[in-house]
Amino acid sequence: MRIDILTLFPEMFQGPFNVSIFKRAVDQDLIEVTIHNIRDYANDKHHIVDDYSYGGGAGMILKPEPIFKAVESIKSDVQFEENIKLPIILLTPQGRLFSQQVALELSEYRHMVLICGRYEGVDERVRQNIANDEISIGDYVLSGGELAAMIVADAVVRLIPGVLGSETSPLDDSHVAGLLEYPQYTRPAVYNEWTVPEILLSGNHAKIAQWRREQAILRTLERRPELLNKANLTLEEKHLVDRLAKQFLSPFSDNDENE
Ligand code: ADE
Repeated sequence: MRIDILTLFPEMFQGPFNVSIFKRAVDQDLIEVTIHNIRDYANDKHHIVDDYSYGGGAGMILKPEPIFKAVESIKSDVQFEENIKLPIILLTPQGRLFSQQVALELSEYRHMVLICGRYEGVDERVRQNIANDEISIGDYVLSGGELAAMIVADAVVRLIPGVLGSETSPLDDSHVAGLLEYPQYTRPAVYNEWTVPEILLSGNHAKIAQWRREQAILRTLERRPELLNKANLTLEEKHLVDRLAKQFLSPFSDNDENE
């Protein structure tokens, strides 16, 4: 996948994109990331990228021309095929909410462009005529779209086949099956008298898989019960949810009744 990122602060990307999984994906040519400084596309002498807001108000607004030029240059650089959609995504708190589902959707493209907004805002014509998607990473306001772009890129890249290597599967991740992930342990089996659940040491893979599934359901029930409405549960698992909900969450659980 090719990822082009438009930003006024290219240096922000140096750290996160040069370590671990992301770096390995670049080194293995699974992804190609180009960071473009929007300022380089401003053709006036002072490379001005922002201006006052028409109608007044505090704060500067990012001008449309440098962003438009950057996107045009990216399109002419790759053999842009008219019939293949190129996601051109503006990172903004006004966008659709980012999720694992959106990451999965984006991981299927061969190319995406991420535009990082800054200052008080971006000229509305960028939204209307240049971007074809807008993404927010949550209901809070960051100083700019850079951190949001890193989050989107990270979540998308790890879903590209080969990026995590054959031994690790993104399929077990929290949110992939609509459930939070089950608890994980490593050695030692006993630490400070805290023990690893017996079942995980049993070597019985079927039982372990069942335990993990139940733990994922229980954890989701405890922390994010609203996710269970959309999770793909068998009838048996739905009954399990009802039982667990009564046992662990109800103020009038069996335990109380025995008292
Ligand atoms: N820019 C500023 N805040 C943002 C957010 N929550 N998501 C995406 N981009 C942003």
